[in-house]
Amino acid sequence: MSVKILTNIPGPRSLELAERRSNSVAQGHGTVCNVYIRKGEGPFLTDVDNNVFIDFAGGIGTVNIGHSHPKVINAINNQVKNYLHTCFTVAPYESYIKLAEKLSSLAPINNHCKAAFFNSGAEAVENAIKIARSYTKRKGILVFSHAFHGRTLMTMSMTYKEDPYKKGFGPFAPEVYTLPYPNDENGINFDNANFDPKDIACAVIEPVLGEGGFIPASKSGMIELKEYCTQNEILFISDEVQTGFGRTGSLFAIEQFDVEPDMITIAKSIAGGLPLSGVVGKGEVIDSVHIGGIGGTYSGNPVSCEAALAVLEIMEEEQLPKNANRIGNTLRSRINSILPKCPWIKEIRGLGAMIGIEIINDKTGKPDKERTNRIHQTALANGLIMITAGTFGNVIRTLMPLTIDEDTLHEGVDILVNALMHH
Ligand SMILES: Cc1ncc(COP(=O)(O)O)c(C=O)c1O
Repeated sequence: MSVKILTNIPGPRSLELAERRSNSVAQGHGTVCNVYIRKGEGPFLTDVDNNVFIDFAGGIGTVNIGHSHPKVINAINNQVKNYLHTCFTVAPYESYIKLAEKLSSLAPINNHCKAAFFNSGAEAVENAIKIARSYTKRKGILVFSHAFHGRTLMTMSMTYKEDPYKKGFGPFAPEVYTLPYPNDENGINFDNANFDPKDIACAVIEPVLGEGGFIPASKSGMIELKEYCTQNEILFISDEVQTGFGRTGSLFAIEQFDVEPDMITIAKSIAGGLPLSGVVGKGEVIDSVHIGGIGGTYSGNPVSCEAALAVLEIMEEEQLPKNANRIGNTLRSRINSILPKCPWIKEIRGLGAMIGIEIINDKTGKPDKERTNRIHQTALANGLIMITAGTFGNVIRTLMPLTIDEDTLHEGVDILVNALMHH
């Protein structure tokens, strides 16, 4: 399979759907690519006009195992034949337990671990906060500049970017304190902080900023944060909703920072595209919550749990974390080779296959959202689906399936390189 563009983009059938959408769907629900999808296979998406695209967005990082992986489809089909839902709190089932066991054994935490499952990344973060408050009997939450943790009240309050995530949606949840994201060697200045560490329940940090622009934390910054947390009995929560499941070259990104978290929040690629999220962490911490204190009707739905078990097998069998490094290296060397011709590329950065390309105005050095959008649209017109990121919307980010073969990867990068050079 390869890219096939048969119409103008968007094609006539997509345009028809866009028109219907504008009449019926809330406009607050934005659109990144105005092509409507009919089929997904591996790293490819086919739209309703039969155009075939390479997918470098992967449903915002939910399909690290690729679209319609036969093993996941098979696991889902087998479960669907039996039952769809019972609610784990009401009438439990084995797959939830199996998944908790598996993730607890894979989490880079030395203590005995336990897990709880939910539906979305935001819900996972919300629940991690509930657990941290319950364990520490403290209220304060530390977060970092440029963070994105979700769209619910608590997670929106923890999120940095005002427009579009917070604009007009206040008042926000109290007791959230923001520190500069530790992405350089300067360290974190806790001295000017406007909180008493004794009031802080947890620090929540993305090892690589996702929505905030694909900026990896520095190892020294993470170690310093961990030491501060340990000294002040603050829980360390690694938000791996976007960085998890092989994306950065290890199953969880935190493995590469030499710090041990108390809890990890997971979602996105955990279930190959089905809604599932979770908190995995030290058993003692997780069990501080009273019975009935966490849960939810659909939390840990059996179809999603079966899909997640298949995803974890695929991760191991196909060595996807290792593939992430291969993909990242290819991307870096291809983009590095055009840097002299593209002064508007400020840098290419990231970890594993979580690569960000920052676009600036080469005259002023300022973030260039307009050029970023032009690059994005040109790539789309030529058959590459991508998304952007960054507080200023000027970072192109890559979240392609980690199963992508070398030829398709190069085909996608050719389109990206062409768009970067000519727009
Ligand atoms: C690091 C991080 N945390 C939390 C979330 C929220 O996840 P969801 O959109 O599934 O609620 C996201 C989503 O992009 C994320 O990247």
